[in-house]
Amino acid sequence: MNRLTFRNGDKIDAIGLGTWKSEPGEVGQAVRDAIKIGYRHIDCAWIYQNENEIGQAFQEAFADGDVSREDLFITSKLWNSFHAPQDVEKAVRESLDALQLDYLDLYLIHWPIAHQPGVVFSEDASGFAPIEDYPIADTWKAMEALVDKGLVKHIGVSNFNIPKLQKLIETAKIIPEMNQVESHPLLAQNDLVQFCNDNQVLYTAYSPLGSRDRSAGMKGSDEPDMFENEVLKSVANNHGVHPAQILIKWAEARGTCVIPKSVNPSRLKQNLASAEIELSEDEMNQVNGLDKGYRFLDGKFWERDGGYYTAESLWNN
Ligand code: A2P
Repeated sequence: MNRLTFRNGDKIDAIGLGTWKSEPGEVGQAVRDAIKIGYRHIDCAWIYQNENEIGQAFQEAFADGDVSREDLFITSKLWNSFHAPQDVEKAVRESLDALQLDYLDLYLIHWPIAHQPGVVFSEDASGFAPIEDYPIADTWKAMEALVDKGLVKHIGVSNFNIPKLQKLIETAKIIPEMNQVESHPLLAQNDLVQFCNDNQVLYTAYSPLGSRDRSAGMKGSDEPDMFENEVLKSVANNHGVHPAQILIKWAEARGTCVIPKSVNPSRLKQNLASAEIELSEDEMNQVNGLDKGYRFLDGKFWERDGGYYTAESLWNN
């Protein structure tokens, strides 16, 4: 499997395990299975509300001698309610406590969106704060302090577009080391990948399979089904694999990280084994041709009457 290299030489496996939507009661077993199968890169977040159970699974994996802490690359993310600089350390410590770890390998600002401190979700605008109230540059300084304290090894962002990355880079002491965004052949984000490559920002593709298990409220009525896409089906046929594996291989082959979520042992195996598929140049070109800027997570779920954030301001400004 491809591995990506941070500026200091640290490595991360291209294929990791996503844990968004992995329910309590099943996520622990999924993480245990994944580690046994060979996953070493595990993507978590405070807001997924399952870090406790994942922490328990890590402890069991260590106790059983499956892996040691240094073998794993573990990511978590700062939720929107902790953007005030004085709250950032508190937030990472909550994730560290839940995950039963002394340090994270990577910590990301989850969204370029601020909530009022203490507000986890809000149905109306009052729970949000304009980003000018909690400038990303200030939140970032507090993220940098976590590196100095040894609480996290690397820091980055999630859901940032080029203008937002550019702005952050202007004031950052540590240039963001990772940008995690939605990405798959229908949303290749070639310009963003290029920008990240040019600035030595690594890139992780989330929802690489189209995030089909998210709640109805977050789904459009006429979403494309990538597993039924004729091009992906035909390339998958060429190799006798599932279209999901072509989606994962495509992301790995273009030099990004990719974090498919599964809680099913045979699909976990399939997904990791995608690394072994060899796509021809023609097949890569066919898959590249599917790009149409389509977002499964369109960002409209951040819009509120009289609020501060819109899909347009998120992705285009
Ligand atoms: P499950 O967890 O039951 O395996 P994403 O990573 O884009 O969020 O997509 C996750 C969804 O894709 C989940 O519904 C997950 O179901 C499903 N999935 C994961 N791997 C595969 C696979 N190899 N084949 C089919 N579906 C998969």
